[in-house]
Amino acid sequence: MSSAVTFNNGVTMPAIGLGVFQTAPEETVTAVQTALELGYRHIDTAAAYLNEREVGEGLHRSGVPREEVFIETKVWITDYGYDETLHAFEKSTKKLGVEQLDLLLLHQPLTAKFERTIQAYKALEKLLADGAVRAIGVSNLVPARLDALLAETDIVPAVNQIELHPYNTHAEIQAKNAAHGILTQAWSPIGGIRSYNGSSSNPLNDPTIRAIGEVYGKTNAQVMLRWHIQQGRSAIPKSINAERIAQNFDVFDFELTGDELTRIDALDTGDTIDIDNLDLESSGIVIDEA
Ligand code: A2P
Repeated sequence: MSSAVTFNNGVTMPAIGLGVFQTAPEETVTAVQTALELGYRHIDTAAAYLNEREVGEGLHRSGVPREEVFIETKVWITDYGYDETLHAFEKSTKKLGVEQLDLLLLHQPLTAKFERTIQAYKALEKLLADGAVRAIGVSNLVPARLDALLAETDIVPAVNQIELHPYNTHAEIQAKNAAHGILTQAWSPIGGIRSYNGSSSNPLNDPTIRAIGEVYGKTNAQVMLRWHIQQGRSAIPKSINAERIAQNFDVFDFELTGDELTRIDALDTGDTIDIDNLDLESSGIVIDEA
């Protein structure tokens, strides 16, 4: 049995989804199809991952009915602003080949031009009111940015998706999310970011996690995913490999102890990337029309 999480608006989502950040378009169709055939019912993508069309194709090829799959995508910062974000919804849904989204997030705060972030969020509120999306949320918002958003908008986000793995647990953001009833969703939930950004250590090789996994006959990735689930988070591990996609979904038949969860929490290094200062000049990818 898989696990589900429930948002502050009552909508439920499978806790584990397939992530496709860094998945090339040509690999995305197979990864999504494989995951859905293995039982995944949640896919996380983003306009800026440039693979929404292929996610849609994978969904189509799997033969799994659209209404059985939870689809989450994100608006990129170049599409912030009220009308721009409404149009971004049109682009994403056309590429994905769906009419409604289950969850639509703002991908990043545009901190230097925060008013555009607010206007983008107001567009999400409109899409929610119209039934075009079932839930709305944010990603990479630190507490100060969340406060600024909450002060100027009406609907509390359902989700704040942040980098979160045992070497970077972002306790302060998690506490802030919890205080507002916002679900924390982990990107790079098994620490893949550490290999992309050249860090010398990676929780996929961590000896404490390995020792815990040996008790249950589970890998480091599986232990980390279990840690997320038992702490009430959603996690979206990325893989293009069928065996690892399967492994990352085989996490519902064991239970970590409270002591094991605490030992994993204690691995936090506080070493994080800056998620608060992306700007249009350095990150201004243009999202093409559908
Ligand atoms: P691959 O796609 O070749 O499987 P994250 O989602 O935390 O960013 O991690 C993604 C990275 O971890 C990718 O490099 C992915 O490579 C790798 N990965 C995914 N699942 C596993 C697993 N079960 N064991 C080891 N590495 C994994």
